[in-house]
Amino acid sequence: MDLDKILEAVAEFVEPHRGKGKVADYIPALASVDPNKFGMAVATRDGTCHKIGDADECFSIQSISKVFTFSLALQKVGDTLWERVGREPSGSAFNSIVQLEHERGIPRNPLINAGAIVVTDHLIDNGDADATTEMLLGVLRDHAEDESIAIDMEVARSESETGARNRSLAHFMASFGNLDNDVETILSAYFRHCALALSCSQLARAALFLAFDGKDPVTRERIVTPQRCRRINAVMMTCGHYDNSGDFAFRIGLPGKSGVGGGVLVIAPGEGAIAVWSPGLNEAGTSTVGALALEALVEQTGWSVFG
Ligand code: DON
Repeated sequence: MDLDKILEAVAEFVEPHRGKGKVADYIPALASVDPNKFGMAVATRDGTCHKIGDADECFSIQSISKVFTFSLALQKVGDTLWERVGREPSGSAFNSIVQLEHERGIPRNPLINAGAIVVTDHLIDNGDADATTEMLLGVLRDHAEDESIAIDMEVARSESETGARNRSLAHFMASFGNLDNDVETILSAYFRHCALALSCSQLARAALFLAFDGKDPVTRERIVTPQRCRRINAVMMTCGHYDNSGDFAFRIGLPGKSGVGGGVLVIAPGEGAIAVWSPGLNEAGTSTVGALALEALVEQTGWSVFG
């Protein structure tokens, strides 16, 4: 299969749609990103990264970081994770608070904001949010084999300054006793995780282990057990796009995770990891052009897990 040719065809297909969707502006530092950007990268078994467009430009990965924190928390605390967060799709927006009261402060899944806040809480030892953030940064640099990966502190600060909703979610969960660390400590890590800046190439490479049963196919490092890898992919498939998860599964048929920076990470089990970036979003916060590009890619590669 000639992935470079396929990527060229995908880029041609999305060209008339470039700039569609709405750039996230509830985090002020994200509002100034050029809506016409488009990049896509596919990392394969031997670590080769096929890419097109702005695939080497860094963008704010935002909620895509939730996949990595979720994997780390599963490895750290195992199945006890499920005592404090569920694994059902929410059918609600990423920052919704509506289910939390009925469900006594237990978020529906680790890929919505409330769930990722609980996951982050699990990753903090001795109240040290800086250490957790350094750890995550180190993990991403290792996985991507790229020491240049960094956090965009301007984005982190901007989100913290306008983070009333995430603070509400966190305090609400704290009121049910579902957080160990204090709210500001957890959020200081959570905001920095969301502000990680990666390119499509770095992101696809960093997530490659999820396409190969939890083991990096290049370095042979075991990152998560095969069973956990399967489950991370299952949660991405059912919950990775909030109230747009059904439509994403219908159109693309692969586990994925969106971020309001306009990135989407998708796992093609046994084939590779795909990252696409285009800042314009649909109503659920998934990249409009990114989803179109993924649809075209899956059409051409036949990689949907549904055949
Ligand atoms: O917490 C937030 O609202 C953002 N840092 C992340 C939200 C996000 O990326 C939603 N995804 N599509």
